[in-house]
Amino acid sequence: MTRKVVFSGVQPSGGLTIGNYIGAIKNFVELQESYDCYYCIVDLHAITVPQTPKDLRKNTLEVLAIYLASGLDPEKCTLFIQSHVEAHAELTWVLNSISYMGQLNRMTQFKEKSRKSEENLNAALFTYPVLMAADILLYQTEFVPVGEDQKQHLELARDLAERFNNKYSETFKVPEPLIREFGARIMDLQRPENKMSKSAENENSYVLMLDNPDIIQRKIRRAITDSVGEVAYTDEQPGIKNLINIYSAFSGDSIEEIENRYRGLGYGKFKQDVAEVIISGLEPIQDRYAQLMKNKDYLEEVYKQGAEKASWVAMKTLGKVYRKVGFIQR
Ligand code: TYM
Repeated sequence: MTRKVVFSGVQPSGGLTIGNYIGAIKNFVELQESYDCYYCIVDLHAITVPQTPKDLRKNTLEVLAIYLASGLDPEKCTLFIQSHVEAHAELTWVLNSISYMGQLNRMTQFKEKSRKSEENLNAALFTYPVLMAADILLYQTEFVPVGEDQKQHLELARDLAERFNNKYSETFKVPEPLIREFGARIMDLQRPENKMSKSAENENSYVLMLDNPDIIQRKIRRAITDSVGEVAYTDEQPGIKNLINIYSAFSGDSIEEIENRYRGLGYGKFKQDVAEVIISGLEPIQDRYAQLMKNKDYLEEVYKQGAEKASWVAMKTLGKVYRKVGFIQR
């Protein structure tokens, strides 16, 4: 029986946060057991904001090493670098031809990013979600595990798949987002009304997957809470709610178990333990990461094999698309 396809990607923009881990990578690892999974490092997406070439190269390998260190197994899933599979850029062009400017203009992420850097606005930032749709649709993807912030982009991918299918006949599978109930939106530790992101100005806003134990303890100790003084999972206490989500993701304990354990104990002890579960969850990943980064030959073998397999599948879909739009076969 053929397995259903899962596709997802992470940008190599330097320093993955525990939000990326909980919202995405941790789920990738579980899914590789029962699906045909493609996990991409989306370097084409990364250049929609200014990048230093040397850092981009380093960050791309870093994401691959984090994928592997987190438990992704190249025997079970396909790991590759987006720019190594030309079909991503090629399908983007075709999908651009059926994308509406108005719809792209309404993308929250575009609106936010363009507000931040108006002098750097480039066309790629605008068509970013079209490239993301191409990523997904090339593999006839059934499920896309992502954090909550990518939901709108997934809707666009679904729209484009349907629009193309209606215009040219059935070609793409229409993908479903896979967004977990808990952990799909890990919040900023200083401003828990925002999602955790490495682009926050204050570095105490996020914990990076490669932060050392002292830094993790410090950042969690400084996390904003409230004056209620009760470890309770409620929207009135967004800082505490976020810490409970993080604790739960790393320990596997339910929200209720955590609330019961810390009832009446105050925030000091709770925060200390949140830091501990993060540290012990990340430690084995960080150790494996350090080993992998010393073995560039192995990383190269993984991404080369991954690209070969991904290209084969992607070219099949792209060939169909080219035929349907009326391009002469090469
Ligand atoms: P990126 O690189 O910003 O984030 C990678 C994944 O991490 C999730 N994530 C979070 N989840 C929970 N809480 C947070 N605070 C948090 N921050 C980030 C994201 O939702 C994402 O799942 N455009 C995508 C990458 C991409 C992609 C794709 C994803 C390109 N092509 C095709 C899926 C399918 C992005 O920039 O993710």
